[in-house]
Amino acid sequence: MKIINSIDQMRALCRAARTNEQRLGFVPTMGALHAGHLALVRAARAQCPATAVSIFVNPTQFGPNEDFAKYPRTLEGDQKMIEAEGISLLFVPTVEEMYPPGAATFVNVEGLNDKLCGRSRPGHFRGVATVVAKLFHIVEPDVAYFGQKDAAQVAVIRKMVRDLAFPLEIVVIPTVRETDGLAMSSRNAYLNPSERKQALVLYRALCRVQTLADQGERAARQLIEAAKNVFRDEPAVRLDYVEIVNQETLEPVNDVSQGALVAVAAFVGSTRLIDNIVLLGTGHTRIA
Ligand code: PAF
Repeated sequence: MKIINSIDQMRALCRAARTNEQRLGFVPTMGALHAGHLALVRAARAQCPATAVSIFVNPTQFGPNEDFAKYPRTLEGDQKMIEAEGISLLFVPTVEEMYPPGAATFVNVEGLNDKLCGRSRPGHFRGVATVVAKLFHIVEPDVAYFGQKDAAQVAVIRKMVRDLAFPLEIVVIPTVRETDGLAMSSRNAYLNPSERKQALVLYRALCRVQTLADQGERAARQLIEAAKNVFRDEPAVRLDYVEIVNQETLEPVNDVSQGALVAVAAFVGSTRLIDNIVLLGTGHTRIA
């Protein structure tokens, strides 16, 4: 497998892959691949005759004091994993290729970019929407795959795709978890052994919400309070937010009868982790 660094070459190869009306699937990533990414790649492989993957640690979605510099970069291992999945289109552009000197155009999904993680990470969703829009222009996929773990990112991208009429479908794949429930994330690599144990509080809080909802609790305020109580038992972890919102608008809901997204973010040591579940409107709930 050849790593493709240039936009022109990637676009030409993707166009060639789409000839004969083949559907092209696309999995954008920042690398440091894990089983969660592989689930996206496998879904794309199962649904599309051709699949492209990108690896790009996108500077514009990191704040000035965030982990852009130390974000894990494991290209050699990632390449092997991608190759083993039978992918031949791997795009690994440089920052200069994606953001040529003077680049000044950004995509702002107004109304969503300051919700959930967007509130604690100003500019984050602007960076995500901008790079994903650019990747879509380069790859021109028919279907793009994202993980449910980044539920707010999914809402932002879905809205961008609709608002800007990108001719593609977004497919969302359930969160992949470690056997003890921790959502897989490239940032889990930052955790030391005691932080790794503490990190389980995110999953425990979501499970508590799920149990209460299963028992019939419909009031978002009560569910949020219950989740916060779980965090109180793990004081080493600093809760950033726990919110119950509409999955599309990311606006808070008072009552979960119609279904809702329960999203949490917390700092475990200096590592910021996120997780979520979707409460279904039918009265049933599931870990997503
Ligand atoms: O989810 C990610 O890994 C990133 O936010 C994405 C979608 C690849 C954009 O940089």
